[in-house]
Amino acid sequence: MDLGLSDRTVVVTGGASNLGHGIALAYAREGARVVVADIDEAQAERTTELVRDLGTDAIAVRTDVTDPEQCAAAVNRACEVFGGVDVLVNNAGVGAGTYGYFRDYTVEAAQRVMDLNYWGTFHFCRAVIEPMTAAGGGAIVNIGSSVYERGRADLPVYSSAKAAVVALSRCLALELGPSGIRVNVVAPGFVLPSGVEQIGRSSTKNTATAFNDYRALATGLAPGGGLLNPEDIAGLVTFLGSHRVARGITGKVLVATGGTVFGDEDERLQTTLEALFPSMSESRTEP
Ligand SMILES: NC(=O)c1ccc[n+]([C@@H]2O[C@H](COP(=O)([O-])OP(=O)(O)OC[C@H]3O[C@@H](n4cnc5c(N)ncnc54)[C@H](O)[C@@H]3O)[C@@H](O)[C@H]2O)c1
Repeated sequence: MDLGLSDRTVVVTGGASNLGHGIALAYAREGARVVVADIDEAQAERTTELVRDLGTDAIAVRTDVTDPEQCAAAVNRACEVFGGVDVLVNNAGVGAGTYGYFRDYTVEAAQRVMDLNYWGTFHFCRAVIEPMTAAGGGAIVNIGSSVYERGRADLPVYSSAKAAVVALSRCLALELGPSGIRVNVVAPGFVLPSGVEQIGRSSTKNTATAFNDYRALATGLAPGGGLLNPEDIAGLVTFLGSHRVARGITGKVLVATGGTVFGDEDERLQTTLEALFPSMSESRTEP
């Protein structure tokens, strides 16, 4: 099916690695031009090369989504080079130090998790509204997480940030609907690419240990086959970015957790985290 994304421009934050990488390539396969806005310049360049190999255009713009000025500059660059932004995918998220029980969290660590997972989305939404409104509309797809609705003991701040992203998206959908801008959320379960080449140095799965630990965590918590590939989620993100097929959808959350029904994982979470504790504890204390 033709999604009507050919010659449209999409900005993917955190588009260098893992899920963002998969989203960038999925839009490229639909013929869209891609702006990869990521702190990892080297991996962002690799992703843009792969996008160009698919026959469309792409640029990498070094952007730290926690800095509102850099977010505005990335949107301006997209407008200068490609003439506007049709779709914004706020994908950058997770981050070092995300895992940890509430009792262990410092205020500074909590602020870092909120900066990346909530404020980054906030800053990019603010930056894109004006050019999208001037162009007569557009689509924003925010990447949440399935933990936003059920929580997880080891992710108290991240779960809160993702719940805030959902609430913000619903409010923006109401405010921006009259301007022709749709705002939706895709909330995945566990996502990991098949190969480490889709992972750059700023990804949270950037070493063989972290990659394998995450696979073990996902498999331990989601034994029903819940570990998804970036491509599984990227299809939903292109669907929601397409006015042709999703024109009637705004303010919604698509939760995609594969074959896993969550709800009974507390005991498994404890066991799995304890088994993985050495490397998990390192990521908990990183700045
Ligand atoms: N992987 C999963 O299992 C999973 C599950 C649910 C939700 N999600 C969500 O999907 C999104 C992507 O997750 P992922 O697993 O691919 O993450 P990841 O850590 O593997 O990759 C994150 C990407 O964001 C970039 N990034 C990090 N900090 C940044 C910053 N300050 N500014 C700009 N870019 C930055 C990194 O360089 C990297 O390219 C996140 O919003 C995450 O919360 C992921």
